[in-house]
Parts: sequence; structure tokens; C-alpha cells
Amino acid sequence: MSNQTPFPKVFAVSTPKGGVGKSTTCTGLGLYLGGLGKKVLFIDLDNIASLTNNLQGADVRHPHLSNVTDLFKDPEGGTPLSVSVISDNIHLIQGDSSVSDINRSNDLTIVTALKDNLHMNVPGIETYDFILIDTPAGNGNTLLASLIVADLVYSPIDLDHNAIGSLTELTKVLKPVKRALNTKLQWAGFVINRVQKLVSVLGRKVPEALSDRAIYESLVKEYGDVALLGVIGLRNPIKTCISNGMWITGKDDSAQAASNEFEQFCKKLLEKV
Ligand SMILES: Nc1ncnc2c1ncn2[C@@H]1O[C@H](COP(=O)(O)OP(=O)(O)OP(=O)(O)O)[C@@H](O)[C@H]1O
Ligand SMILES: [Mg+2]
Repeated sequence: MSNQTPFPKVFAVSTPKGGVGKSTTCTGLGLYLGGLGKKVLFIDLDNIASLTNNLQGADVRHPHLSNVTDLFKDPEGGTPLSVSVISDNIHLIQGDSSVSDINRSNDLTIVTALKDNLHMNVPGIETYDFILIDTPAGNGNTLLASLIVADLVYSPIDLDHNAIGSLTELTKVLKPVKRALNTKLQWAGFVINRVQKLVSVLGRKVPEALSDRAIYESLVKEYGDVALLGVIGLRNPIKTCISNGMWITGKDDSAQAASNEFEQFCKKLLEKV
């Protein structure tokens, strides 16, 4: 592996809390980048494979072509890894329930294998602009492996009382990884997702419900304005479009708002690169 070889920017999505929009925002971010003409490699490390299901075409057009567990094998073998082609510039290494075995394994070499396999065994890896890694909730081997290879991590979060606690848990993992294993790792911040209702206050979109607003404000106070990557409403067009592998479309207010909120989040995140 040479430092001179160009390598894509690697984003990992991680929040220890489940169901907050990791897979949804990851899918949307990749679709947004794809729309800008960037070449994207998605890696689905969740055994539930929501990202892969969002990009359903992969299964139909290239059934089981890619195998995510190959990313955790001994990289020295040199066997080229396959990717599933979603479109010309969007490729995927599909999720699979067997990834649970990776999380349960106590083989220490697993956590560095992802980085080495990406560098050594994915043909044409240097042609991608971005690698986007969707991780499962919790702190398993797949998260550690992702943090070892990532440049940037971002965290979707919803406004419940576990929000700050959840991000604090992530920080506990990020700090030692950055110190000892991947000094280039940066936490880009959090995007608040699935907010019931948003209102504009002094030109900013904030949660309408006062209880939600209090959590929003405590998050901003704790992590600072620069860490706030966006606020996205709980909106059906996000669910229906992104979970069908499409960027948000529709002419009604909800679709327009959803598309704007999502785009603002993507732009703010990309400013951190
Ligand atoms: N802004 C949104 N508006 C409406 N529905 C949303 C929004 N964000 C996510 N969802 C829906 O919420 C559910 C959970 O989202 P998602 O699967 O992205 O969460 P996750 O953090 O990846 O979950 P897990 O921890 O299980 O991996 C999905 O059904 C998704 O379609
Ligand atoms: Mg998910």
C-alpha cells in the first residue's frame, strides 16, 4: 500500500442508537454525490442490509455478485473483490446477514482487514471519489474496522433523551481510534433526523415542539453549531424515495422541504472534506 496512490474519501455513518437514519442518510448522500457525477462505492456493513435493500436494483441485476464478508478475509490472499453495479457511477458491496459473524468474532485481524482489502483487493478503487460505509447500531468489529479506514464520520440522531448519551458513547470509541489507529479520522458532526414538525425561527429550521427544541438546543450547546450538519423532518417522501434508491422527488411542499433539507445536510457535510 502506498501513500502516493490516490484513494477515495471515506465516510462512515455511525450512531450507537438504532433506527435514527444511518442507512437512509447514507443512501441519500450517495445518491446526491452520484447526481453530482461523483463515483461512489457504498459498503453495507449492516446485517439487516437496509442500504442494500434501498438500492434494490443490485439484487435484481447482479445477484450476490459482491460479498461483504470478503472484505474481512486475510488481505494477503490477493483475491480481487467484486462490486455490484447499481449504475455507471454508483457501486455497492452488498450487505448480508453473515456480517453478524464478523461482529461476534474475536479474531483481532478482522478490524484491520477492511482497510487493507479496500486498498489492496478492490480493482479500480482509485477511480472512486467516495466510499460510503453504512454501519450497524452499536460498537462491533465492523464499526471499529470502519473507523480505522474512514476520513470522516457523521452521526444521524433523533430528538429523544438518549441523543446526547448516544453521541457520548460514540466519542468514547472515536477518541482512542483516532489517537492510536487512524490519526486522520474526523468526526464531522450530527444531523438531526426524523423531526416531527419544523418551523423557521430567525431563518433557521428548528423543531416546533418545545420538548424537541430543548433536546435540539442541548445538542447544539454540547457539540457546537459547527457540528450541526442539518435538521431533517420526518417526511414520507424521504421514506418512499430513498428507500427505493431514488433521490427525493415530488412537487408538493413536503417533498420540496424534504429535498431541500436533505440537500443542505449533504452540502454541509461535504464542506468538511
Ligand atoms: N427523515 C425521515 N423521514 C421519514 N422516514 C424516515 C426518515 N429517516 C429515516 N426514515 C425511516 O425510518 C426508518 C429507520 O431509518 P434507517 O433504517 O435509515 O435507520 P438506521 O439508523 O439505519 O437503523 P438501524 O440502526 O436499524 O441500522 C426507516 O424505515 C426509514 O425509511
Ligand atoms: Mg441502518
